[in-house]
Amino acid sequence: MAYENIRLESQGPVTTLTIDRPKALNALNSKTLQEIESALQSLTSETRVLILTGGGEKSFVAGADIAEMSAISASQAREFAALGHRVMAALESLPCVTIAAVNGFALGGGCELALGCDLIYASEKAKLGLPEVSLGVIPGFGGTQRLARLVGKMRAKELIFTGGHIPAAQAKEYGLVLEVLPPEQLMEHCRTVATKMLKNGPLAISQAKRVIEFGADQDLRAANELERQGFAALFGSEDQREGMKAFLEKRAAAFTGK
Ligand code: CAA
Repeated sequence: MAYENIRLESQGPVTTLTIDRPKALNALNSKTLQEIESALQSLTSETRVLILTGGGEKSFVAGADIAEMSAISASQAREFAALGHRVMAALESLPCVTIAAVNGFALGGGCELALGCDLIYASEKAKLGLPEVSLGVIPGFGGTQRLARLVGKMRAKELIFTGGHIPAAQAKEYGLVLEVLPPEQLMEHCRTVATKMLKNGPLAISQAKRVIEFGADQDLRAANELERQGFAALFGSEDQREGMKAFLEKRAAAFTGK
């Protein structure tokens, strides 16, 4: 499918989705969100790792599109937020691993997009934040909830109430990003992490993601039950038989994802 505001490129099992509206610092208008949504729906089991990044030199995504939002009504805002929430939920539900390669500004909806990914790595140039209150609104794509769950309620309140942009190193200190890399090493780092994961059982990684993701919203008893079910569900799969057989035969496993 031809996209206007994003690029989707696959190299074997690693797919890169680039949000590519550099003139607007990759701001998320409805069209871009719809394109991301349909790109996520188009992924097949061939994709084991999806890397999200921003086109151009300056920005990952500088937020939802303020020009578009400035002209919408409350009911349109509900639909716009629902679209953004669907994209983040789709990222969390994907069976593949998602990595945000934050190469510049990740503000508002851009920070929320990164928060929807499994892992966040950032360039030394990156600045992150949720500045929505400076526009008289609040984060609308899940930022109030995912940021608070990731860095704690009080830190999330500080970041959201001040609306500031924090440098990547500070975001790392807060646990909002995993590692901070020189800009030219960011994508390579993400691919190296991807390569390490590609050696492991695809079904097992998907199951681990599902259990961590959905267990995080439940109490410990219910979450542990989810883990027990997920663990048992893998038994009988070709990957489970191959993984254990390969260990006993002292060779590398050849997983098929079946
Ligand atoms: N929406 C629309 N256009 C945007 C944009 C956004 N979020 N961010 C940047 N742009 C546009 C600018 O309007 C400008 O366009 P023109 O060249 O046509 O004037 C272009 O991108 C370049 O931006 P700047 O000239 O402002 O670049 P800068 O280097 O001086 O500043 C910046 C960079 C600090 C990121 C600044 O652009 C900025 O503050 N952007 C807005 C950040 C923001 O508030 N994001 C939150 C949006 S609200 C939201 O996301 C709601 C939600 O949760 C759903």
